[in-house]
Amino acid sequence: MFARLTSSKKFLPIAIGIGAASIATAVILQQNHSIMSESSKALKGDNQWIDLPIIKIEKLSHDTKRFTFALPKKDQVSGLTVASCVLAKFVTLKGSNVIRPYTPVSDINTKGEIEFVIKHYENGKFTSHLFGLKENDTVSFKGPISKWEWKPNSFDSITLLGAGSGITPLYQLVHHIAQNPQDNTKIHLYYGNKTPSDILLKSELDNLQSKYPEQVKVTYFVDKAEDKFEGKTGFITKEFLSSDAPKATEKNQVFVCGPPPFMKAYSGPKVSPSDQGELTGILAELGFTKDNVFKF
Ligand SMILES: Cc1cc2nc3c(=O)[nH]c(=O)nc-3n(C[C@H](O)[C@H](O)[C@H](O)COP(=O)(O)OP(=O)(O)OC[C@H]3O[C@@H](n4cnc5c(N)ncnc54)[C@H](O)[C@@H]3O)c2cc1C
Ligand SMILES: *[C@@H]1O[C@H](CO)[C@@H](O)[C@H](O)[C@H]1NC(C)=O
Repeated sequence: MFARLTSSKKFLPIAIGIGAASIATAVILQQNHSIMSESSKALKGDNQWIDLPIIKIEKLSHDTKRFTFALPKKDQVSGLTVASCVLAKFVTLKGSNVIRPYTPVSDINTKGEIEFVIKHYENGKFTSHLFGLKENDTVSFKGPISKWEWKPNSFDSITLLGAGSGITPLYQLVHHIAQNPQDNTKIHLYYGNKTPSDILLKSELDNLQSKYPEQVKVTYFVDKAEDKFEGKTGFITKEFLSSDAPKATEKNQVFVCGPPPFMKAYSGPKVSPSDQGELTGILAELGFTKDNVFKF
């Protein structure tokens, strides 16, 4: 389509006359450009559900898989921003909708596909359906829903506290910031799991840390260690954070994401998507305030 219009720009002026044709062509090109930039995003934030087929399923741990979906067009980007999530839906045999939010982990500039890391809950409505699907089956998506609009260098540093599949929005931030050469924000990620084999996206996180050692520092914590585990055993303690993480100032922002007991311990629960609730727990004890902490 673009090629055709470019060639019409070359030849039309000769046929119709330079002035009129170049104005007409400019209008067509401009309209075409705005249509293209809209259609280059698969998810447009327009409340429309789109069905995407699964193109790859990879096992990441005993209960978690990475699902890669194809976007409608190969040259499209997902339309995501950092940090955002999308809604996924399937319709049961009885005709009721099951809708859940998920946080993509693919880069926002990746074309043609979108990736998720999703944990299977036994008896979980959505995930039991999803984990029964195979390649080429589809899931409906809409969004994106912005959670935090990241602006490069808006803080000197950020502290990320996550557990289990709560890593997904934190991973979005880490890899988006690290791969932007213009963004100098320092990142401390503290990531807790039950055992080393439950750690999600470990090779991706290790790669970011070794590629950007001055910028990204990841510390893994597990309840129970196995042989040769290079990380900490036990919870992410207040004492550890106090000596290792940036202090509570307006130049350091904290992001927290994990299951309810994790949220309760570090930041206090989030009340609802629009109400962050009070800051309590370990972060409050370390002197952080509600303004320095975002609960995903
Ligand atoms: C903004 C946001 C982003 C998210 N991103 C991700 C992500 O990237 N990856 C990811 O894996 N998850 C993510 N989640 C979690 C996800 O949205 C779902 O909550 C999760 O997948 C479980 O959905 P489900 O339908 O399978 O389970 P549900 O049916 O909702 O059940 C969840 C759990 O509760 C139990 N349960 C259900 N009903 C009852 C009951 N009546 N009594 C007791 N227990 C019950 C189930 O057995 C299961 O263990 C995100 C959540 C939010 C809010
Ligand atoms: C999915 O579709 C592709 C293209 O139509 C096909 O080559 C492939 O075999 C299909 N995979 C499965 C598991 O059905």
